[in-house]
Formats: sequence, C-alpha cells, structure tokens
Amino acid sequence: MFLDYLVLVLVLCGIFICFIYSFITGISPVSSTIKSRRKIIHAISPEQEGVIYELGAGWGAVAFPLARRCPEATVVAYELSPIPWLFLKVRAFLFGPSNLRILRRNFLNDNLAKAALVVCYLYPGAMKKLSSKFMSELKPSAKVISNTFEIPAWNPTLVQILEDVMCPQIFYYKMDSAVQVSTSLSISCQQ
Ligand SMILES: C[S@@+](CC[C@H](N)C(=O)[O-])C[C@H]1O[C@@H](n2cnc3c(N)ncnc32)[C@H](O)[C@@H]1O
Repeated sequence: MFLDYLVLVLVLCGIFICFIYSFITGISPVSSTIKSRRKIIHAISPEQEGVIYELGAGWGAVAFPLARRCPEATVVAYELSPIPWLFLKVRAFLFGPSNLRILRRNFLNDNLAKAALVVCYLYPGAMKKLSSKFMSELKPSAKVISNTFEIPAWNPTLVQILEDVMCPQIFYYKMDSAVQVSTSLSISCQQ
C-alpha cells in the first residue's frame, strides 16, 4: 500500500514538473508525429558529418533515430525539462548510440556556431528568437530543418507538406540562401 502511494506521488510530481517546465520553455515535450519524423530523418544523408543540434529533444523521438542514421556526426540534443532529460539520459545510457550527447541546458544561452545542421520542433515565439541567433552564429554552410514552424522572413529551400494534423509541414533552410534573402528584405524595409 505504501509503495502504491509512493508511486502515485512520484508520478504526480513528474507530471507537475513537466507542466511547470512547459510554462518555462513555452512548449510541452510532445513528440513529432511518426510521419513527420520519418520525413525529417530520411531527408538527412547517412553520410552527414559534423555537429547536429537538436533543439528541444523531448522524449528523443528524433534525437535517437537521427544519431543512428548519421554515425559520422555527433548529435547534441538539448532538453531543459528535467523529466524528459532524465528519460533521455537513461535511454542513452542503456541503449546508446555513442554519438548522441544529451545536455540539460537552454539552447538560447549556448553558441551554436559548430552546427552543420540544426533540427527543431518548437513554436512560433522560439523560431523568432532563433532567427537572429542563427543569423549571428551559424556558418553559411549550415542547414536548418524545422518541423511545423517556419523561421519568420526566411526563405526555405523546400517546404514539405504532409497530410498530418499535428505536423502539417516541414521547413528546410540553407543558411547561405535563407539569410541572403532575409538580409536583403530587411535592408529594403529600412530604405
Ligand atoms: C515539441 S517538443 C519536441 C520534441 C522532439 N524534438 C520531437 O520532435 O519529438 C519541444 C521540446 O523543446 C524543449 N525546449 C523548449 N525550449 C527549450 C530551450 N530553450 N532549451 C532547451 N529545451 C527547450 C521543451 O522542453 C520540449 O521538450
């Protein structure tokens, strides 16, 4: 009986902490849909090298298959919410893969200059903040894949439309072309 109550209290505390962190980060740890995550993973070459950042890894629905698909790359998965982060750590410890690093950090406070590729599934407010961050930090050769939410005023190289209520589109960006367009847009707006 005591054990039953203990489990119940732990589960309720876990739900409460997830709830609080959804307010702090602006988004709950909901996973990408199977359809959208398959599209994203298959769009990335298995020969991809360098550092891939997953900004907000949730329960790892993208981070784990991504790291397995790209053994030559290092996948760095950021997750601020403690319960999903703990789950990711335990899952990575038990099952790998070895090229996946899990960080309990706010990605907005880190420099992302090493990125060859950035993958995310966030919300419009975060994409707005990331727009200027990407512009000042990412290399011209870097690529960004955003599930569902576009980067405001950027020019995607591809928009994949999915028949999927939760994740209806995926935006693909290359820094060199996306930033040129948005820079010229902001210059023409200033004139
Ligand atoms: C919608 S979930 C996406 C999960 C996973 N990427 C997927 O596609 O299945 C977004 C996650 O981002 C995390 N997150 C949001 N803002 C963050 C930040 N600034 N730093 C770290 N994690 C953040 C949230 O805690 C949440 O778990």
